[in-house]
Amino acid sequence: MYNLKNKTAVITGAGGKYGIGRSIALRLASEGANIVVNDLKTKIKELNNLRELIIKKSSDCLVVCGDISKSKDVEFLIKKTNKKFNRIDILINNAAASAKFDRVPIISLREKIWDNIHDINLKGTFLSCKFVAKEMIKNNNGGKIINISSSVGKDYVKENYGAYSSSKFAIRGLTQVLAKELGKHNIMVNAICPGAIVTERTNNIVKSLYKNEANLNKAIKKYVKEYGDDTPLGRLCTTEDVSNLAAFLCSKESDFITGKSITLDGGKNTD
Ligand SMILES: NC(=O)c1ccc[n+]([C@@H]2O[C@H](COP(=O)([O-])OP(=O)(O)OC[C@H]3O[C@@H](n4cnc5c(N)ncnc54)[C@H](O)[C@@H]3O)[C@@H](O)[C@H]2O)c1
Repeated sequence: MYNLKNKTAVITGAGGKYGIGRSIALRLASEGANIVVNDLKTKIKELNNLRELIIKKSSDCLVVCGDISKSKDVEFLIKKTNKKFNRIDILINNAAASAKFDRVPIISLREKIWDNIHDINLKGTFLSCKFVAKEMIKNNNGGKIINISSSVGKDYVKENYGAYSSSKFAIRGLTQVLAKELGKHNIMVNAICPGAIVTERTNNIVKSLYKNEANLNKAIKKYVKEYGDDTPLGRLCTTEDVSNLAAFLCSKESDFITGKSITLDGGKNTD
């Protein structure tokens, strides 16, 4: 267990029913942090449910809907956070565009789809880092920023992942530059690169991988088995694997770690 009492953590894209953002929000709340959860307006119900669970853990929670690819929405998120908690100590950049029309070869990838993936995944991460880091510097309490990249943003490159992979590679570059710029302010910036995890966004990925399987649950089972069998630890990554690492990276126990992109793939790659 880590001590995040009196810390405020902002988590983007936390509205997935069984997503990584939700798992991190619950874990950081268990460590004592107050939590601000963001997602698009369409996820308000899920965010309010999450808020109730967080409050049951004796942490406070604020829900702020908004599109992180829009600077005015990110500024609003920070304004609301400051108004309620008067500080921001932790930022988890977790939101990502859904995977569907981008999973095609680069020669068939439409410009609009490319822009959408990069607007949300990369520009959204940039905007959140920019405005939150400014607040952290102003508050002079240091801070922790964690950007969710992916194993396909590191060395597990696959065909048909052109837009997604490049956005996740770029997030790691942004992480390294920010770590250099923010170190003097005692702000640590790291990225987590998970391997495949079954969440809501996986549904579209699985559908595109197993086009001949009409039943989604059967297709997910195949995906889990095939991916797991091809992994030294014999299974997929889980949202808990990610939230365990995120909690450590948010704690003072990891204070000398910055600028790193940590892969969570059960040994699938050698990095
Ligand atoms: N599931 C996997 O296999 C996997 C593997 C590696 C990395 N990741 C990364 O983990 C993160 C979380 O993914 P997940 O699998 O939990 O999926 P998820 O779909 O549960 O979560 C992503 C959330 O981002 C939200 N979102 C989309 N656009 C947004 C915007 N403009 N502003 C605010 N919120 C927005 C979505 O509504 C969604 O709730 C993503 O960055 C994803 O790329 C996932």
